[in-house]
Amino acid sequence: MVEAKANGKIILIGEHSVVYGEPAIALPFLAAKIKVSIMASDFDIILDSDQYQGSLDKAPSQLKGLTLLINKVLTTLNKEDSNLYIKIESNIPSERGMGSSAAVAAATVKAIYRYFKKDLQIDVLSDFVDFLEKIVHGNPSGIDRAIVINKKPIYYTKDEPIKLFDIDLNAYLVVADTGKKGKTKIAVSKVKDFINNNPKRGEKIIKDLGAMTREAKNSIKDNDATNLGRLMNQSQKLLNELGVSNARIDNLVKVSIDSGALGSKLTGGGLGGCIISLCTSKDQAEIIEAALLKNGAYNTWIMKMSKEEDLNEG
Ligand code: PMV
Repeated sequence: MVEAKANGKIILIGEHSVVYGEPAIALPFLAAKIKVSIMASDFDIILDSDQYQGSLDKAPSQLKGLTLLINKVLTTLNKEDSNLYIKIESNIPSERGMGSSAAVAAATVKAIYRYFKKDLQIDVLSDFVDFLEKIVHGNPSGIDRAIVINKKPIYYTKDEPIKLFDIDLNAYLVVADTGKKGKTKIAVSKVKDFINNNPKRGEKIIKDLGAMTREAKNSIKDNDATNLGRLMNQSQKLLNELGVSNARIDNLVKVSIDSGALGSKLTGGGLGGCIISLCTSKDQAEIIEAALLKNGAYNTWIMKMSKEEDLNEG
């Protein structure tokens, strides 16, 4: 039996505008873990996941992308006729804006290559992740793929070389799951419609979100959590205007601010999924976490915003 793992991600700032060529900042989210194990099966390719257990060729339509990906990897390796048992374990619910689809893709491809003892080049892995992301998201910026492959905080601009950067900020991030599936594909098309219907305002919002991300990068370098929080609040307002927030997100954002967060916003596609709230200390993060859970958050995690090894605590 072989195993491969991958982690999810959190977009700190810059989602949606990243689709239009503006930068975004993302962090690996080590609390979100995907593990794929593969062993020989007696017949057929058997998929065993939270959503489905059975023959790959009878998998339901929501697993279409994964089914196509597995077949594509096996065809590439000339192993289409293999009998495999593929088990996918995830400790995060899917479609929460944590990049689980890119993580599932990466772990699955790595596990299949490992099973057949083949070397996997990074650009080949990247193309396979992109293949699934395109099916799941439509027109992905590539940020989820970039973070799942690099496993470090990134400053990402579409079609540009990925810039890794150290985040060593004296602050904590509370991640809270709204308990509702995010709708990345719908959210991305909502933003597109907004821009088509209000080109002047839409383009201005995208530019402003980009400017906030650039400033956020400097705030992180200057260890200025207060300004980063302010930028998060501003970008939440603009994301709201674009139509990708909702009442549940707005409520948890408000609860965070009322409980003392420096800033709070949705993360990822929106229309559900998760929010993030920036806090000055662990004590404050715990107060906010408790308030979020009391007010309907489904689950929460606390992340320290410092060097990689400390990035996740919860
Ligand atoms: O919902 P997620 O975690 O897949 O994040 C989507 C991020 C967007 O900027 C909204 C879309 C994209 O492709 O970058």
